[in-house]
Amino acid sequence: MSKVPPTIKGVRGAPDILPAEVGRWQRVETEARRILESFGYEEIRTPVFERTELFVRGIGEGTDIVQKEMYTFTDKGGESLTLRPEATAAVVRAAHEHSLLSEGRPLKVYYIGSMFRHERPQAGRFRQFHQIGVEAMGVEGPTVDAEMLALLLHLFTKWGLPDLELRLNSIGDPVCRPSYVERLTTFLHSRKAKLCSDCQGRLDRNPLRVLDCKAPGCRAVTANAPKSVESLCRPCADHFQRLRELLDALEVTYELDPRLVRGLDYYTRTTFELVNPALGAQNAVAGGGRYDGLAQEITGTAVPGIGFAIGLERVVASLAAKGEDQASLGDRPHEGVFVATLGPEPDRHGFLLAQRLRRAGVRTGLDLTGTGNRSLRSQLRQADKERFRYCLILGEDELKKGEATLKDMEGGGQEAIPLDRVVDHLTRVEPGEPRR
Ligand code: HAM
Repeated sequence: MSKVPPTIKGVRGAPDILPAEVGRWQRVETEARRILESFGYEEIRTPVFERTELFVRGIGEGTDIVQKEMYTFTDKGGESLTLRPEATAAVVRAAHEHSLLSEGRPLKVYYIGSMFRHERPQAGRFRQFHQIGVEAMGVEGPTVDAEMLALLLHLFTKWGLPDLELRLNSIGDPVCRPSYVERLTTFLHSRKAKLCSDCQGRLDRNPLRVLDCKAPGCRAVTANAPKSVESLCRPCADHFQRLRELLDALEVTYELDPRLVRGLDYYTRTTFELVNPALGAQNAVAGGGRYDGLAQEITGTAVPGIGFAIGLERVVASLAAKGEDQASLGDRPHEGVFVATLGPEPDRHGFLLAQRLRRAGVRTGLDLTGTGNRSLRSQLRQADKERFRYCLILGEDELKKGEATLKDMEGGGQEAIPLDRVVDHLTRVEPGEPRR
C-alpha cells in the first residue's frame, strides 16, 4: 500500500482570508483609497522584501522587531534580505532612490499590503498581517501632524468606527531626548528590582521601551516615571503646543499618554496610537508619528516625515466586534442571471448564451458539469446560493420554440423570452456599467 503523505497546513500566524470574509476587507480598502486620494495621497507599492540593513538602520538595532521578529534569509546570491516588518523605511528609501521629493512640495503617499513579524500569534496578533499606511515627507511644521491625525480619525469614522481613543505624546528630538533618557534611566535604575527581567535587560539598551511594557510590576514603576513632554527643548515644546492648538480647533479629542514611546526607534517629537478598548490585549488599531531623523539615517539626506499605519486585521475585528452585519459590508446583492439547462442540447446552447451575456456585462453563472443532466431544483438552489437575481431556464421544448423562461428569484414571477432577445432584455433589466 502506498503511504499517504501528511496534509500540508498553512503557516501558524498567517491566516487565510476566506471568500466569506473578503467583502468586509474590500469595503474597508475601497473606502480608504477614496478618502486617501481625496486628501491628496497617491499609492506607492514597494517590494515585500528589502535589504536587511534597511530595517536594522531604519527601525533600530535595539528594537524587538530587529532583535527578535524579522524574517531574514540569505538569498542564492548571498545577500541578506528581510520580509518587510513595516513599510515606512522602504517608502523613505524609495522616495530618495527615485528623487520623489521636490523642493517646496511634500511627498504624500499611501500603501496597502502585508507585513511580516515573527511574534507570538494570539487574537489580533499575526505573523503575516496587513497595513494601510500613510506617509507625508518634506514638511516640518505641526500642520501636517494635525492633518495626519484628522485623516486617521476620518478613515475610522467612515468605516463606522467613530468612537476610538486617540493617544498622543511627544518624545522630543536628538537635542532634548538624551537628557530625558538620562533622567528616565536614573529613575528606573533606582527601581530596577521591581522591573520584569526583559526590562532589566532593556534598561541600558533601550530604556524608553520600559515605558510601554505591559507587565504589572513595570506599569506600577513607570506610572510615576519622568515624562518626556516635561523635558522638551523649546522647538519641540512649541511644535507640540501648536499641534495641540490645531487639534483643539479641529475638535479632535485625545488623551495625553506619557508612556507612548512606540516600538520603532525612528520616531521624533509627535507619537500617537489609536486604540479600540473593545479588542482586548492587542487593541492598538493604528500607530504612527514623526520621523525627522529617518531619511538621514538610511539615505544620508535629511528630510522630515510623519505617518501612520493601520492594522487591517484589527479594523475588521473591530467591525465584527461591533456586530456590523456582514451583509451590509460589501456582500454582493442578488444580481445577474444564472443559466439553468435541462438536456445536452440546451446545455450547449446555454454555455454560448452565458458567454454572450458576460460579454454584454451581465453577471452570469451557469452549471459547469456540461451535461445538462442536473435537476432544475438543484440548479435553482445553486443560483440562489450564488446570489443571482434571475434564473434563465432552457429546456428541450423551449429551445425548439426558440425561447427561454426567465424566472425572477426575488419577485417570484416568470416570463418567456425569445432567445434572440435574451441579451437585450437582461442588459435592460440589469442596467449599469459592464462588469469586468
Ligand atoms: P506599528 O505600531 O508597528 O507601526 O504598526 C501599526 C499597526 O499595525 C499597529 O497599531 C497594529 O494595528 C498593526 N500591527 C502591528 N503588528 C501587528 C501584528 N503582529 N499583527 C496584527 N497587526 C499588527 C508601524 O508599523 C509604523 N511603520 C507606522 C508608521 C508609519 N509610522 C510612521 N509611518
